[in-house]
Amino acid sequence: MADTAAGDSGTSLEQRLDAMLEIERFDPSQQFREQALLSDPAVYERAARDPQGWWAEQAEALDWFERWDTVLDDSEPPFYKWFTGGKLNVSYNCLDRHVDAGRGDRVAYHWRGEEGERRDVTYAELHRDVQRFANALKDLGVQQGDVVGIYLPMIPEVVVAMLACARIGAPHNVVFGGFSAESVKERMEFSEAKVLVTVDGARRKGKTAPIKATVDEHMGDLASLKTVVVVRHARLDGVPMTAGRDVWFDEVCAAAAADCPAEPLDAEHPLFILYTSGSTASPKGILHTTGGYLTGVAATHRYVFDLKPDEDVWWCAADVGWITGHSYIVYGPLANGATSVMWEGAPDYPHKGIWWEVAEETRATLLYAAPTAIRTFMKWGHEIPERYDLSALRLLGSVGEPINPKAWLWYHQVIGGGRCPIVDTWWQTETGAIMITPLPGITSTKPGSATTPFPGVAAEVVGEGDGEPIDSGQGLLVLTQPWPSMLRTLYKEDERFVETYFARFGKERYLVGDAARRDRDGYLWIIGRIDDVVNVSGHRLSTAEVESAIVAHEKVAEAAVIGQSDEDTGQAICAFVTLNGEIEGTDELIAEIGAVVAERIGKFARPKRIIWADDLPKTRSGKIMRRLLRDIAEGRALGDVTTLRDPSVMASLESQIKDAQ
Ligand code: WTA
Repeated sequence: MADTAAGDSGTSLEQRLDAMLEIERFDPSQQFREQALLSDPAVYERAARDPQGWWAEQAEALDWFERWDTVLDDSEPPFYKWFTGGKLNVSYNCLDRHVDAGRGDRVAYHWRGEEGERRDVTYAELHRDVQRFANALKDLGVQQGDVVGIYLPMIPEVVVAMLACARIGAPHNVVFGGFSAESVKERMEFSEAKVLVTVDGARRKGKTAPIKATVDEHMGDLASLKTVVVVRHARLDGVPMTAGRDVWFDEVCAAAAADCPAEPLDAEHPLFILYTSGSTASPKGILHTTGGYLTGVAATHRYVFDLKPDEDVWWCAADVGWITGHSYIVYGPLANGATSVMWEGAPDYPHKGIWWEVAEETRATLLYAAPTAIRTFMKWGHEIPERYDLSALRLLGSVGEPINPKAWLWYHQVIGGGRCPIVDTWWQTETGAIMITPLPGITSTKPGSATTPFPGVAAEVVGEGDGEPIDSGQGLLVLTQPWPSMLRTLYKEDERFVETYFARFGKERYLVGDAARRDRDGYLWIIGRIDDVVNVSGHRLSTAEVESAIVAHEKVAEAAVIGQSDEDTGQAICAFVTLNGEIEGTDELIAEIGAVVAERIGKFARPKRIIWADDLPKTRSGKIMRRLLRDIAEGRALGDVTTLRDPSVMASLESQIKDAQ
């Protein structure tokens, strides 16, 4: 049984954590340091002196069909190219080379289903299934460069589908299962997907959602979409199948040939597109390519988590549909030949201890989770994880949003038994791989700080106005040199790519979109987004996206959405809504607006709070002043209102809020 923090000394866990908030630094234990892959801080200097040499060394860890000529082609910034002239295949690196080396029997995924099912999928089995599905895709007419959409729950077939695409050079476009069918349609349309791989039904907390039927209702006629492949998972009856368009996954696989050699692809061949939210309502198609991306995710997965593939059991508790899942459920772990846990369901079904039951049963050694989940477990109480044997755990990771020191300490003490280093990893869909993070055998951690850039990555905090580097203090985070796993562009929107990330500080400095503080030791503390992106439980949403869904309701005249601080979810969606004419805001209308948002984007985007507003605060040029709305929502004294076209709007908003309370 793990040595936990509840202790027997008579002090409560709460008191102990409060006392620990005073501790500024946690050094790696000697025991951890001695066994760590990296324990010499000289690695930072070495990488800083010769970043290209460092990254080339990381790329050597992959299998290349042809070696590259140039490590970094920076002749046309910010359109950087890595390992040009090199040829490789991601699926080959994730499967064939492990199987060829005699590791085919190793479990790639301990898949655990909601109803207690266990499926242990080996590398050899994945290799077999991926080849068949890759051939099936070819039989369906998919060629190199064609986009394949994937809308699947957390089941092994999602990995099979992704790797099959990678094997034949068809970029995939995965849509998170929590997005609505309407969002899927939009993403298929934008990316001109030729095939969509989906499922009969998805299970969530004991209920089954009829995914295929819902997709059909929304997909309409997309000229580009030729085929829908349906995985049988929930075993639903009466799944609608359109003749000539829809096929069953198992049937096309059975009909396909068994052998499908991995296609040698250019290092810069597109691997996938993943849509994410930006400042405007239209999502950005982040494009990642082959050699640089795989180099970045494999190296960070190995070193940040100190991965020993022969011994560790890795569990990234994200969803495959987000970048965290792409990089650290699929590509990083498989490239490194790791054994992973894949959990189908929610953290509270069938019971609130299910994560710890799965961790105990699979003897998970490395766990990577989001602060939202940690805060939720904290609320449920330390007694729950303490019922399980978590002694196999040796390292814990955090990702997706800032982690507050209290949650950090709880994670460290209750889940990690006080012995596991915590790596708070900062990165983005755009960066492809972890950028700012401790190295667990080297870095002294400070709860709440993602610490310093990974070797080969360079970051600065710069002044908002002048762009000058800030030695200690707050400003905007920028990355000051290219890195292999960086996005290459926004799919079919080169101009928007340059405009979004490189217009403000020039082509040499990538604008992250987060504010950050640099302390006297050079540690970075990520504060949050500077654009209109809201982070709800680590899920990225744009305020404009939610606003345009809300105004789709016929009774709504105007809406302004902000991210309000929230104890559980980090930020929560708060919407100020102006109704048409004399219409009164009612609970019924709140439910209806929530339903429209769920339909257009997904349930996770539904506003937590709706505030009826007769009018919204606008500048003279008509721009909504979200800062003031945030002040109101969070109950702060109002900032400067003199630039408003009509300052009395604020007073009436405040009184409306008071009336509602
Ligand atoms: C936020 C998720 C603080 C940040 C991998 C970033 C974080 C956005 C952290 C990207 C962290 C991610 N500490 N904030 N450790 N990790 N973020 O694209 O605002 O879904 O810009 O990628 O999440 O979200 P995305």
